[in-house]
Amino acid sequence: MGSNPLKLGVLVSGRGSNLQAIIDAIERGDLEAQIAVVISDKEQAYALERARKHGIEALFIDPRAYKSREEHEKVVGDYLEERGVGLICLAGYMRILSPYFVKRFQWRIMNIHPALLPSFPGLHGQKQALDYGVKISGCTVHFVDEETDHGPIIIQAAVPVLEDDDEDTLSARILEYEHKIYPRAIQLFAQGRLEIQGRRVRVKGAPGNTWAVVNPPLEG
Ligand code: GAR
Repeated sequence: MGSNPLKLGVLVSGRGSNLQAIIDAIERGDLEAQIAVVISDKEQAYALERARKHGIEALFIDPRAYKSREEHEKVVGDYLEERGVGLICLAGYMRILSPYFVKRFQWRIMNIHPALLPSFPGLHGQKQALDYGVKISGCTVHFVDEETDHGPIIIQAAVPVLEDDDEDTLSARILEYEHKIYPRAIQLFAQGRLEIQGRRVRVKGAPGNTWAVVNPPLEG
């Protein structure tokens, strides 16, 4: 890792398995970054415990303590800035960010969504896919813009929907790929290889197209 690795701020609301995948990728040396702080809007989020186990600062910032969404976001944003965060990773953060926050950190916020966007944005992407009857779903890492689950797409992984799937089995199959593509997208950012051109994200210096991941599973 270089002497000045990219600092990440990870925003979470729940169990934090994507946070764990990011931590693991850093510890394995696959991701040249460090997590400066993890911030949750839920006091009981298991993600906070995961962070603390790895010696990472973990904060609960209660949205209910502030008069408006923007006020809460201002405090969150100030914490991130004070720690020199260069990229904010939403990892199961179940709050919609206001245009204020998105503009403040423009093209420095990434999100992971459990569906192949633009299909099935919003809550319960996996259930939406099952209910719709698609045969392939997956997950998407994208930059965050002012619309929900909408910004330029960095990597997607396609995952089959099986005949006997329910929400839990499909979610688990998709999650396995979330854990692969999120650290990979962050690493591309850390390497300065992502270039946004309108809706398209170009990956500089890519040997081929490894940003569309389809079964059979990824190597490594
Ligand atoms: C993940 O499946 C993530 O894609 C999803 O929440 C889960 C969080 O799990 N995010 C969204 O639905 C955002 N719209 P985790 O806390 O174990 O990472």
